[in-house]
Amino acid sequence: MRKAWIFGMAVLAATACKQGQEAEKAIEEMSISGDLHSYSKPEQAKVQHLDWNAEVDFDAKVIRAMATWTLAEGAKEQVIFDTHDLNIESVVDETGNPLVFELSARDETFGQALSIQLPENTRKLSITYTTSPTAKALQWTAPEQTEDKVHPFLYTQSQAILARTWIPCQDSPGIRFTYKAEVKVDPALLALMSASNPQSTNSEGIYLFDMPQPIPSYLLALAVGDLYFKPVGPKTGVYAEASVVDTAAYEFADMQKMLEAAEALYGEYQWGRYDLIVLPPSFPFGGMENPRLTFATPTILAGDRSLGSLVAHELAHSWSGNLVTNATWNDFWLNEGFTVYFEHRIMEAVYGRDYSEMLASLGHEGLLVEIDDFMAENPEDTRLKIDLAGRNPDDGVTAIAYDKGYHFLRLVEETVGRERFDVFLKSYFSSNAFQVMDTERFLSLLRENLISTEEEQKIGVEEWVYGTGLPSNAPVPDASRFVAVDAAALAFLEETKVLPAAKQTEQWSTHEWLRFLSKLSDADVERLQLLDKQFAFTQSNNSEIVAAWLGMNLRQTAVSEAVDKKAEEFLVRVGRRKFLTPTYKSMIEGGHIERAREIYSKARGGYHAVARETLDKLLEMES
Ligand code: BES
Ligand code: ZN
Repeated sequence: MRKAWIFGMAVLAATACKQGQEAEKAIEEMSISGDLHSYSKPEQAKVQHLDWNAEVDFDAKVIRAMATWTLAEGAKEQVIFDTHDLNIESVVDETGNPLVFELSARDETFGQALSIQLPENTRKLSITYTTSPTAKALQWTAPEQTEDKVHPFLYTQSQAILARTWIPCQDSPGIRFTYKAEVKVDPALLALMSASNPQSTNSEGIYLFDMPQPIPSYLLALAVGDLYFKPVGPKTGVYAEASVVDTAAYEFADMQKMLEAAEALYGEYQWGRYDLIVLPPSFPFGGMENPRLTFATPTILAGDRSLGSLVAHELAHSWSGNLVTNATWNDFWLNEGFTVYFEHRIMEAVYGRDYSEMLASLGHEGLLVEIDDFMAENPEDTRLKIDLAGRNPDDGVTAIAYDKGYHFLRLVEETVGRERFDVFLKSYFSSNAFQVMDTERFLSLLRENLISTEEEQKIGVEEWVYGTGLPSNAPVPDASRFVAVDAAALAFLEETKVLPAAKQTEQWSTHEWLRFLSKLSDADVERLQLLDKQFAFTQSNNSEIVAAWLGMNLRQTAVSEAVDKKAEEFLVRVGRRKFLTPTYKSMIEGGHIERAREIYSKARGGYHAVARETLDKLLEMES
């Protein structure tokens, strides 16, 4: 059986050209079966349940595992899994008889199709394999990159198509399965998954997990580290390293309130507990909605609870995304646009309309900038329904899915009234729970159950979903809480350079500061120095403020030593892509590309693969 794999590798090495053609053929086949980013052919054979038995080896940076898949009834002839750099050792049926399998040529983005022949009535098969030390989903974090610096840390990031780099699976958001797992780790460490979780370590280092609700593969997740648990409410709590867990429990004290607000809006939470884990700073995203256990960056630990909307966002995914799931990555806006809408509704319910409008307004500002950039380079990608055929679905992770999606749903709300919209959404989540949704089906539900032809015309549904740019009837969030901030920024830009009084800025949260800085993008070096003297931005511990501040400084030709030092410290420590991309871009804009490359070469090893891929392109560096 090993031979098939070796054969696959030999082809790969010998004829790169043939490999290209084969991969092209495979990609063509992918588009035929519906999901553009998975080799699996669910119409032929589809999975139903996973039993995963794994051992985590920090020294070798590999996971050795056996994935036992139960197939849904009616499987015909062969089953196809997605894999990416997995070393497949054997495939056997329930009785231990070997099954014939084959791996297609490797595509850098999509990996390899693993086709397994199915003798009649085969319902279960076990794949024994080892992950690659460079598996893209897995981040093997050295002790120095953790907060407490004693133990290593491992976490996964499966969305969008990286689950296949650590588990052979039908890696399509349209295919759901339940799972159970047994994971063995160093007994000093705790293992957690997107499933029922332990709250403390045990002496064997063996942990059992159960996810009884069917999930798509992109929600498979694992974290292993020196972790401790602290409850926040009856159904909510946080996991983090020892020195972080109290800070985290303080920062996220409102998790339980958010959960209750979300349930009051759109129906019962379907997943049992809702916990959150604080990961090392290399985590490439702000948050990831792994069911039962949101993965979060430590950069939202601002100390003043000001960045909690990220929790509202990931929690909202427990409905939009995890319950009702985008059918393909072309429908990604259904996951994220709904989630941003729901996030703002949770924030409004817990903190008031004023506060949520302030957040929506920052999103609005960001959207306008991103739409402008896209319209100049790639207008096609400003459609809500995006075409990602043959591309990495990561290309679709932009403000379009999130904030254009949000603005569209908000326009629907404002057109039909909140009461009608809420009734529609509540029943949308319950009647489509644990199912997939694509854009066309959503639109027909909208037409059948919510909007009249007249309302549809007024909204311009087709233009919003299939057209480029931002339609002129886009709602504009109420920024009245920012009026004074904007005035302060303008005053500072005047000849007299008046700085806002401490009496005023004492009241400002992260968001007012971000707005203030965003209005000062034209400030000259002299003004930047005045600002830093007064407000010590370079020394700030608030990651959002640091990122904004570094951006405006690095865009200048002259950069102070202090700012340069902070930039290096920040870029080496933090791996959150939302901060990295704009910071490096600002360096390029300011003419500091060599310095950017120098910092990047120090930092790159600590970044997760998804961040590395973006930055390799930006800085044109090869690994
Ligand atoms: N599911 C996303 C993160 C994601 C999307 C990872 C696509 C990989 C592919 C998550 O819910 C998210 O949107 N995170 C945001 C948080 C935010 C909008 C509050 C992030 O990480 O910045
Ligand atoms: Zn999201």
